[in-house]
Amino acid sequence: MEKETFIFDRNLFQKADQVRKRFCKDEVHLRGIIEFSNHCCRNCLYCGLRRDNKNITRYRMEPGEIAGLAVKIVAKGVNTIVLQSGDDFYYTQKSLGRIIGEIKQRTGAAITLSIGERPLDDYRAFRDSGADRYLLKHETSNPALYRILHPGQALKQRLKILEYLKKIGFQIGSGNIVGLPNQGIKDLVRDVLFLKELDVDMAGIGPFIPQKDTPLAAQPPGDLDLTLRILAMARILTKNAHLPATTALASLDRKNGQLRALRSGANVIMPDFTPVGYRKDYRIYDNKIGLSLRKAKEIISKAKRTISRGRGDSLKKRP
Ligand code: 5AD
Repeated sequence: MEKETFIFDRNLFQKADQVRKRFCKDEVHLRGIIEFSNHCCRNCLYCGLRRDNKNITRYRMEPGEIAGLAVKIVAKGVNTIVLQSGDDFYYTQKSLGRIIGEIKQRTGAAITLSIGERPLDDYRAFRDSGADRYLLKHETSNPALYRILHPGQALKQRLKILEYLKKIGFQIGSGNIVGLPNQGIKDLVRDVLFLKELDVDMAGIGPFIPQKDTPLAAQPPGDLDLTLRILAMARILTKNAHLPATTALASLDRKNGQLRALRSGANVIMPDFTPVGYRKDYRIYDNKIGLSLRKAKEIISKAKRTISRGRGDSLKKRP
C-alpha cells in the first residue's frame, strides 16, 4: 500500500492498538513532568515561550525547589521525572548537573531532560550526572518549513544532536507537531519515517495549537483525527517505542483526546506536577491543560489498562 493511503486505512487505530498490545503489553507508564522555567532564548513561531513574547510572566524554579518536588513525585509512585523548560542558559552545565545529581541520589528515579539545544559538552555532563533520557522533538522533518518556524535554527543541527545523544548513551525521544501551517500529508509521513529511521526510544506526537501571542495566532489548530492517525502510524512503524498520549491532544478534546490516543497506539501519559503558581505561565499554546495524577490514572483505568510500577525504560535493544 502507498504510504500516504495507509494513513487513511479504515482499521488503522485497531491495527495500531494490536501492535501496541503485542510489543508494549497493557502497561501504561507515568512520567511526572516539572516545567521548571519558561524563559527561552529561541523564537519559534508557534510557541508562546518564544523570546519576543512580552505578554507572559517569566519564572524560574530554584534548584532546591525542583529537587524537592521531584522527591514528592517519586513518593507518589511515579518513577520517571521529566525536567522541561525553554532553552534557558541561566541554568549552567554545573547547576543543572547538580540538580540532576541530587534528584538521582535522593530518588533513584529515571531522569528525562527536555531542555532544548545546548553545546554537546553539556549533554555529556548531564549524562554523567545521572540523566537517563533526552527529549528533543524534530517538530517537522521538512527542512524548509523547519527553517521558517525556527529562526536561526536548522533541522540538520537537531539531527546531529539526536545522534550524539544516542551515541553517549541517552535513551532518546523525538516527535513532531501535526497541522502546522503549510504542512502536507507527505511531510507527516516523512515525520513518521524519520522516527523509525532514527530508531527513537520515545516519540511525542501532538497537534498544533495556536497561541495568541505568537505570529501563528490566527492559524487553525491541527486536526484531532489526523493527529491520532499519525500517532497510530508511528506505533505500527516503530513497534515498541514509548509513545505518550500528549497533553496537546487533551487540549483539542478534553474528554476523550488522551483516551483515544491510548487506544490508537499510545502507552505513556505525563501528569503535570509544575506548581500551580507557575503553571499558568507555561503557555506554550492556548488552553493548555494541567493533567493531574488522579486524572491520568482515571484515563488509564477507562482504557482498561494497568499502571506500570517500573521505570519504563526503553524497550529497544541497543548494541
Ligand atoms: N502547538 C503544539 N505544540 C507546541 N509545542 C510548542 N508550541 C506548540 C504549539 N503552539 C510543543 C513542541 C515542543 C513541546 C514542548 O511543545 O513540540 O517540543
